[in-house]
Amino acid sequence: MTDAPRTLRSSAWFDNPDNIDMTALYLERYLNFGLSLEELRSGKPIIGIAQTGSDLSPCNRHHLVLAERIREGIREAGGIVLEFPVHPIQETGKRPTAGLDRNLAYLGLVELLHGYPLDGVVLTTGCDKTTPACLMAAATVNIPAIALSVGPMLNGWYKGQRTGSGTIVWRAREMLAAGEIDHDGFIKLVTSSAPSTGFCNTMGTATTMNTLAEALGMMLPGTAAIPAPYRDRQEAAYRTGKRIVEMVAEDLKPSDILTRDAFLNAIVVNSAIGGSTNAPIHLAAIARHVGAELDVTDWQTYGLDVPLLVNLQPAGAYLAEDYYRAGSLPAVVAQLMDKGLIREGALTVNGHSIGENCRGATIEDEDVIRPFDTPLKAAAGFLVLKGNLFDAAIMKTSVIGEDFRARYLSNPDDPEAFEGRVVVFDGPEDYHHRIDDPSLDITPDTLLVMRGAGPVGYPGAAEVVNMRPPAHLIKAGVFALPCLGDGRQSGTSASPSILNASPEAAAGGGLALLRTGDRVRIDLGRGTADMLIPEEEIAERRRALEAAGGYAYPASQTPWQAMQRAVVGQLHTGAILEGAEAFQRIAQTKGLPRDNH
Ligand code: FES
Ligand code: MG
Repeated sequence: MTDAPRTLRSSAWFDNPDNIDMTALYLERYLNFGLSLEELRSGKPIIGIAQTGSDLSPCNRHHLVLAERIREGIREAGGIVLEFPVHPIQETGKRPTAGLDRNLAYLGLVELLHGYPLDGVVLTTGCDKTTPACLMAAATVNIPAIALSVGPMLNGWYKGQRTGSGTIVWRAREMLAAGEIDHDGFIKLVTSSAPSTGFCNTMGTATTMNTLAEALGMMLPGTAAIPAPYRDRQEAAYRTGKRIVEMVAEDLKPSDILTRDAFLNAIVVNSAIGGSTNAPIHLAAIARHVGAELDVTDWQTYGLDVPLLVNLQPAGAYLAEDYYRAGSLPAVVAQLMDKGLIREGALTVNGHSIGENCRGATIEDEDVIRPFDTPLKAAAGFLVLKGNLFDAAIMKTSVIGEDFRARYLSNPDDPEAFEGRVVVFDGPEDYHHRIDDPSLDITPDTLLVMRGAGPVGYPGAAEVVNMRPPAHLIKAGVFALPCLGDGRQSGTSASPSILNASPEAAAGGGLALLRTGDRVRIDLGRGTADMLIPEEEIAERRRALEAAGGYAYPASQTPWQAMQRAVVGQLHTGAILEGAEAFQRIAQTKGLPRDNH
């Protein structure tokens, strides 16, 4: 499998005959924690374990345990291990957003992978932003890299019903608002959804991004969805450690795997699994760092018509354990392959194509993973909308419920369009204060707008666009109103919202001009979203906004908030640090860093 021995990247540190001073200096300090001279100069590859687990990041914390098995795999295959921490990201713990930290973890990991004697790396993925941060960094540095998912939590249960991460919160809020449970009941119900170590057990952003990492080819087949506590998870860690050593010998790099074909496969898979609306943001970011072509409109072109096959909350009924037992991603891909929807030649980390890996994979439970011809829902992908409100926004069609469809999309003359009066909120605080205010006159025909929630405005883009209706409507049986905003939505929410509107209000997008009482027309058939305001009025409002210094948002509170705000791009192009793209594939194009003394 290996050709003639290659010069390892780490030999620039540990075996450089032209600079014996520095070689000695590098060697003496890495000897310091117990490695021998013989080991460091044996020509064995040095493999990093990029550790995302810590007490601050409970979703990924099990990686501290799994790392032991990764190490054993690496040693067994003849590699040397250097484990190091990645800036922790906890989706539900980090204020003001975990989104702010994705690019920070990315930056930090790039410096580590580029600046230290590493020949390959195991990326320990899990909680929402940790997966894209790691893949973005690996794409930039482009040394052999393999991802290991920490795995989802076990199923949550409450009174005999499955309770899923995040999704249960939206349900519990409705129950609290309707007076069906009290505060104690609320806490009990919500915490029942998290019975073990691991990441969210719903098809939220964590399950989505780990599944897509496997679909992209960056993870061993069949391993993304193994629940964290299962013994198979330990075995996957061991096999991942062994495999990265072989990948270094084969010089199999992210740029060999993360091709446009791989991204198109991920888009198709995302529809079939009912994946998160955060996926377009993160895939755009990874693609831009590796230099693969990908546009937000690809989501509609390649993904919209793909049916929903995976029956997981929030779009369906089951949870991650059920999905793993039913066959997980290989079974889904096999269904899609039968219909010619997968670019089968795309290479994966095990050295085989996705077609080779998944051909013949069977569904073990057809209620959890549906066969292609009996899906949960047809055409379950994302619509990409544009108009005078924004250049791009997306809508997850798989969560549009029948009652919503009947109420808003039932006009026989124009079954894909609806019009409504808007009520505009500037940030979630504004929403929480005013949503039950009767003077807003919110009716079933109102469209709720959230702005100031994008990468610049919030900052980091907050998951606040999905808004529950006021209590009086919930009591009357209206559980969802159409929502629209320049922020994101939790992947665990089933709200039919128009999200990720770019550019955001804080970057001069049309949402900044909207006022409560305006009318908006959304046409899903034509893919448009417009404020129904005359051109002259729009121009006048823009002049007034610019005279006032633009859309106002809270001041930065930390150095990183201020720095990121100055350079971050918009959600439809990945919300990356603009300019950082110029450094894609630094290991190849910019060479090794200089010696430090
Ligand atoms: Fe970390 Fe959901 S909050 S995976
Ligand atoms: Mg979230």
